[in-house]
Amino acid sequence: MSSEILQEVLAIEGGEKTREDFLVFMSPIIEQEAIDSVVESLKSGWVGTGPKNQQFANDIRDFIGIKHVQLVNSCTAALHLAMISLAIGPGDEVVVPTMTFCATVNSVLFTGATPVLVDCDLNSLNVTRELMEKKITNKTKAIVVVHMAGLPVDLDPIRELAKEKGLPLIEDAAHAFESKYKNQYTGTIGDIGCYSFYATKNLTTAEGGAFVTNNEGLFKIAAQASLHGMSVDAFKRFSKSGFKHYDVSMLGYKYNLTDIQAALGIAHLKKINDYLKIREEIWHSYNEAFKDLPVVTPQEIPDSFAQGSIHARHLYTLRLDLEKLNQDRDYVLNALQAEGIGSGIHYKPVHEHSFYAQSLGYKPSDFPNASKVGRETISLPLSPKMTPGDVADVIKAVRKVVLALRK
Ligand SMILES: Cc1ncc(COP(=O)(O)O)c(C=O)c1O
Repeated sequence: MSSEILQEVLAIEGGEKTREDFLVFMSPIIEQEAIDSVVESLKSGWVGTGPKNQQFANDIRDFIGIKHVQLVNSCTAALHLAMISLAIGPGDEVVVPTMTFCATVNSVLFTGATPVLVDCDLNSLNVTRELMEKKITNKTKAIVVVHMAGLPVDLDPIRELAKEKGLPLIEDAAHAFESKYKNQYTGTIGDIGCYSFYATKNLTTAEGGAFVTNNEGLFKIAAQASLHGMSVDAFKRFSKSGFKHYDVSMLGYKYNLTDIQAALGIAHLKKINDYLKIREEIWHSYNEAFKDLPVVTPQEIPDSFAQGSIHARHLYTLRLDLEKLNQDRDYVLNALQAEGIGSGIHYKPVHEHSFYAQSLGYKPSDFPNASKVGRETISLPLSPKMTPGDVADVIKAVRKVVLALRK
């Protein structure tokens, strides 16, 4: 498929393939310091959940300014723990964006509760108070926001809504570790924040995540549920302070993050602001290069809350103006692939995946904005590992493909 498209695009445009060695969409940067940190952890003999895990949790706590951090093995786990700590279960509803990764919605389904999906704003791809408010019923037990691509959600109106209705607010900040909303880190503003440290994320431990909160009660439930529901974790049970018995006093899961992973995170966190600066530069180069193309470049933080706010610039998501192109988004994606450039889609909205369409009974017209974005969006490589040559190749390939397909 790709090579046919390449031949077609080359025939239209008449150029050479942009690059021979494939540029992977979101290849993580792993520097020597991070490798040394992992090796040190391996040599220490404590490879499970132990001192490095504690150190990483403390580092995160200090970085974002929060009272409690429970490290887990994914953001999916953190979101599930959020639901558990809020005692969400069968018969309850949780209002969740449809413009997100499936895990946000799955965390509600894990508990037997019903996710009630919400459309997104067409420009920010984020939810708004107006969109969420319409979905709240007397069964609603919590609301979830996702800071899409690292652009912070306008949280004040949503916090007011949550307060008016007496509902807890969960922030899925999987894309937004370094984002700030009016001087506060996203993830620390609602009742619970959930981060992802997956391989492609701004802060990575290969796989990992964190549940964060200022509420001690919620933290205690999440911490216990994250490790089999045991009252004392392994580090405390086997450490030099002496053996301790444990009691399983609730249903729990196996969600702990290992020290090997935490060691990677500790080193990565030290570089996080440097990496953000590199992504910012790439971002601005893309914006400048695509100004004259039939595309919509990603929205910046609106002036109304720009003061003290930060965009984590996790995903550079272009929206193609399909009315001005001869082909659809998937054609563009395949043509970029044929040019040697990897790209992604964020997202085909949750309601359009067959499992949710069948089990929740939604149709694309229920969420016109998310459905439109899902057809038009394409994410370009955005990694601090990229060289200026990589950035130039992405620009060259995007311009070549889009211009060749322009009506
Ligand atoms: C918005 C969002 N929420 C949750 C997740 C789940 O994260 P993890 O892979 O760490 O479980 C992702 C992962 O990409 C995500 O993008």
